[in-house]
Amino acid sequence: MSTIADAICLGEQIGCVHPLHTFLCRLERNPSLFQPERLRERLIALDNLDAEFGDFDSESSARRTDPSIHERARALRTRLEATNAELYRSVRSQIVRGSRPHALLQWLQDSANENEAIDPLPGSSFDWRDELVSGVLQLREPSEPNFQRPTEMVPYQPTPVRHILRLIAAAPLAEDDVFVDLGSGLGHVPLLVSMVTGATSLGIEVEAAYVASAQECAQSLCLGGVQFISQDVREADLASGTVFYLYSPFKGSILTDVLSALRSESTRRPITVCSLGPCTRAVANQRWLKAKTITDVGRITAFDSQ
Ligand SMILES: C[S@@+](CC[C@H](N)C(=O)[O-])C[C@H]1O[C@@H](n2cnc3c(N)ncnc32)[C@H](O)[C@@H]1O
Repeated sequence: MSTIADAICLGEQIGCVHPLHTFLCRLERNPSLFQPERLRERLIALDNLDAEFGDFDSESSARRTDPSIHERARALRTRLEATNAELYRSVRSQIVRGSRPHALLQWLQDSANENEAIDPLPGSSFDWRDELVSGVLQLREPSEPNFQRPTEMVPYQPTPVRHILRLIAAAPLAEDDVFVDLGSGLGHVPLLVSMVTGATSLGIEVEAAYVASAQECAQSLCLGGVQFISQDVREADLASGTVFYLYSPFKGSILTDVLSALRSESTRRPITVCSLGPCTRAVANQRWLKAKTITDVGRITAFDSQ
C-alpha cells in the first residue's frame, strides 16, 4: 500500500475521514483480492466500486467525489480488472490447447454445488458467473442488428449462466450428446455446454450477425465441437440433436411448427427438450413430452419424449 493510503487508513482509525476512504481502505488492505483464484471476490469488489462511483470516466462522477478518492478508486479498479484479464487469458489459452479449463469448471461447479443445483434463483438477472463467462468468451457484440424480425420472433436476450448450469445437470448432458440451441443468439449457451461437458453443440440462429460473432468465438478458442448456422429454425435439419433448448425464442405459429418438428424427431429416437421462460407453458402442454423437473417458467424445465 502507498504511504498516502497508509496515512489515510490511519486517519480512518481515528475517525476523521470520509466513509468512501474506509470503503477503499478495506479493499486496498486486502492483498488476497489480487490472488488469481479470488475471482469471485474481485468481481463483487468491482460491482461495489461501480455502485459507489458510477461511471469513473464521466465528469459528473469525478466532480461528485474528492479527487484523491476518485483517483484511488480508479487505480484500484484498473488493478482488479488487469488481474481478471490475466486470468481470462490463461483460461482461454487452456481451452485453445485443448485441455479442460479446470479453474473455470471448478468455479462454476462450486457455485452450482453451493445451494442451487436444484433450485437456482428464478428470472433473468445476472451475477458474477455471467461476468466470468463473458470475460472468457469475449464475444463481440454486433453493432447493428440488420434483420427485420417478424413479431413472433423474440429479440436476443442471453440465458444467465446459473440456468445453463442447471440445464446441464437437469438434461443431463454428457459427452455423447448433441446439444441444439434453437435460436442461439450470440452462442454462449452452446459454447459453455461444450466446454463444460465435452458434448457436441449446435446453435441455430436467424440473425446472421450473431452467428458470425459466435463462429468467431468458437474459432478463436479452437472449439471444433461447436457449430453455428444462420437459419430459421423451421428450416433447419434437427436430425442429429439429442437435447434441444428453447429460451422462449419465438411464439405463436413458429413455436407450434418447431414443437411439431421436435415431435417428429422424437419418433426416431428419444430426445430431451429443455425450456426457460414463457414458452415452457406451450412445451408443458405437449402430450408426447413428460416433465422430469418441476415445471416453472422462471427456471429450466427438462422434458423427456415418451
Ligand atoms: C431469447 S433469445 C435466446 C438466445 C440464446 N438461446 C440464449 O439462451 O442465450 C432468442 C433468440 O432466438 C432467435 N430467433 C428468433 N426466432 C428465430 C427463428 N425462427 N429461427 C432462428 N432463430 C430465431 C432470436 O434472434 C434470438 O437471438
